[in-house]
Amino acid sequence: MQRDTLVFDLIRQELERQRRGIELIASENFTSLQVMQAMGNVMTNKYAEGYPGRRYYGGCEIVDQTEQLAIDRLCQIFNVEYANVQPHSGAQANAALMLAILQPGDAILGLDLSMGGHLTHGSAVNFSGKLYKPHFYGVGKEDGLVDYDMLEAKAREVKPKLIICGASAYSRDWDYARIRRVADEVGAFVMADIAHPAGLIAKGLLNYPFDHCHFVTSTTHKTLRGPRGGVIMMKKDFENPFGLKDVKGNLRMMSNLIDMAVFPGTQGGPLEHVIAAKAIAFGEILTPEFQSYQEQVQKNAQAMAAAFTSRGYQIISGGTDNHLMLIDLRNKNISGKKAEQVLGHADITANKNMVPYDDKSAFVTSGVRFGVAAITTRGMVEKDMEFVVNAIDRSLMQADDAAALAGIKKEVNEFMSQFALYPEMG
Ligand SMILES: Cc1ncc(COP(=O)(O)O)c(C=O)c1O
Repeated sequence: MQRDTLVFDLIRQELERQRRGIELIASENFTSLQVMQAMGNVMTNKYAEGYPGRRYYGGCEIVDQTEQLAIDRLCQIFNVEYANVQPHSGAQANAALMLAILQPGDAILGLDLSMGGHLTHGSAVNFSGKLYKPHFYGVGKEDGLVDYDMLEAKAREVKPKLIICGASAYSRDWDYARIRRVADEVGAFVMADIAHPAGLIAKGLLNYPFDHCHFVTSTTHKTLRGPRGGVIMMKKDFENPFGLKDVKGNLRMMSNLIDMAVFPGTQGGPLEHVIAAKAIAFGEILTPEFQSYQEQVQKNAQAMAAAFTSRGYQIISGGTDNHLMLIDLRNKNISGKKAEQVLGHADITANKNMVPYDDKSAFVTSGVRFGVAAITTRGMVEKDMEFVVNAIDRSLMQADDAAALAGIKKEVNEFMSQFALYPEMG
């Protein structure tokens, strides 16, 4: 069969785009070469419905070993007893977890999407908002911090079955112990969705959610720097505190209920090639190099936040504890939508984002979100944040000057040529 040059040419173009630009989308990263290579392997040919040692297909002896390795390594990283590595994505992990513990119509309580939450935490356009009855807490108008008083008051008022913490655009750490206290008071489960800060949590740079949250879900492709995918974890609470039953009416361990909610509940065959790549990424996370990487991520984020602040930009909550920051552009007279477009002209990739109490729609927005996980993987350190923020600032201040933007783009491309990306790919 002839090689499909049309598609391979596009893949090549995407590699060049990633190489020459500054990647600031907070949910993105660059995997190692071995993680990338593992995703294109023969395990994609294999059906393996079920779990290691208990599959519905023959020939699973080898994929059993990679999946078990991924599970064991993930448990070691986070010091937990249970992990399911099959969810195809973060959204799938959340869907499965909710299927395991909720009934349609049950109340759930999550951070409002417009305040930094995620679609799967109860948005009306998502399964979570359609199947369950969503309620929300927010952040303070003045300080931009999660309003725990509001969270507690809402929890007492609506008595949710599940309280969700975690976010897509929140730059501060979480008080998991406080959330668990109110959950115990109202009889709710707590789930932490650590999709964004998982890498920092893995290396002890942020609070540890597992002692307080019944369940923890994550993506594997953001700060964990693995292949695109999701996971579900649990440290304790195996005892099924609310006496949940399976479809046959049997009392089960929580771990069984979660496994069954992933498969057969929400997915068919697991992506064993991606699970192999997850196992490799988890092995990388266990190395000392990954500790230094995460420390650098945190330092870079703080250096970037300081550079923005010194130029008069308003960072929601005034700074960052993790890898990202959300900037309110209203005092700079440019919308998030326009900022995203303008930065694109300079080969700087970021995304528009609503800010808390935004007066613009989700399509326009007043904010922009920046994350440093990807540029830190490229090898940038604190001093490089000056160049990056300077390029962003000059682009936004000359938003309608095509020649100026073309000039900045040239500088950006030249700057990025010193940070190799997949040199082995030619
Ligand atoms: C907090 C949070 N949860 C879940 C997800 C969903 O992950 P995925 O895009 O892999 O479905 C995201 C993605 O950005 C996220 O930020």
